[in-house]
Amino acid sequence: MNERPQHILGIEPTNALPIPLILDKARDYRAFFSRHSHCHDLEGVLVVNAFFENSTRTKSSFDIAAKRLGADVVSFGSSGSSISKGESLYDTLQTLDAMAPDCLVMRHRCSGAAEYASRHVRAHVLNAGDGTHEHPTQALLDAMTLIDEFGSLEGKTIGIVGDIAHSRVARSNMHLLPLLGAKVLVCSPPTLMPREWDISGVERVSSLTELLERCDAVMTLRLQLERMQSGLVPSFNEYHRHYALRQPVVSRFPQLKVLHPGPVNYGVEIDYELANGPQSLIRKQVANGVFIRMACLWLLCTSANV
Ligand code: CP
Repeated sequence: MNERPQHILGIEPTNALPIPLILDKARDYRAFFSRHSHCHDLEGVLVVNAFFENSTRTKSSFDIAAKRLGADVVSFGSSGSSISKGESLYDTLQTLDAMAPDCLVMRHRCSGAAEYASRHVRAHVLNAGDGTHEHPTQALLDAMTLIDEFGSLEGKTIGIVGDIAHSRVARSNMHLLPLLGAKVLVCSPPTLMPREWDISGVERVSSLTELLERCDAVMTLRLQLERMQSGLVPSFNEYHRHYALRQPVVSRFPQLKVLHPGPVNYGVEIDYELANGPQSLIRKQVANGVFIRMACLWLLCTSANV
């Protein structure tokens, strides 16, 4: 039996999460919800979705996941809260905690914010993306989607291209995918590669062509302009020419699967035809996100044996 985690703050440190169990549970929920619309697994559980930074996919899928499992759900963002009147994150967390939620799902622009919250609330904290640090449920849904496609990640090579330095999705995937047996290749302009390189099982390659030739699947990332200190790419046109997944290039590798965590900027990091074509797994990623979030909420908020 695994130990049930108190919080889900990231994929790192290794062994903090029962990853096979989360993936199995997500697949169980997917099978169940293909035949049903609701269940009672989280009946009596109060989930607060606190999104201090914008989100479409993550926020709506956490809402749907919690509601379909029978939880009571309260959602809010900074613009509709007293943060806009100057209330601190600490006071906001204390206020929410006084209402005794069982789980606080939290997104914040600052790296480490979820870990900070976990030290100041009694609720389980589930990191829905913190700055450039981690986005664990995104990596888990990416892994689930890739395993659906390939059966297993053992011996597979997965490429990640784009703004590696500012991407919490890349960071979580660089930790998770090697744990599941995959080799990870990364490619980005030098200005968008992290300065410190500390993740085993991840190799940097210098050209997109080499990455495409060696990979079974490739994930491209949005340029995180809101997290850049200054212009780190000379122009979008130049970025597109050297680092974008372009339809005429990627279609030369018809077996290659294409992922993107969203939101997508067409014509910058990926072409519209490719993102919406037969090689794309983007819609499957979004669909799997609901079941991964169900599994994570179940793991934190129920007392079922793990
Ligand atoms: N992938 C992702 O985190 O998307 P959102 O910002 O829309 O939640």
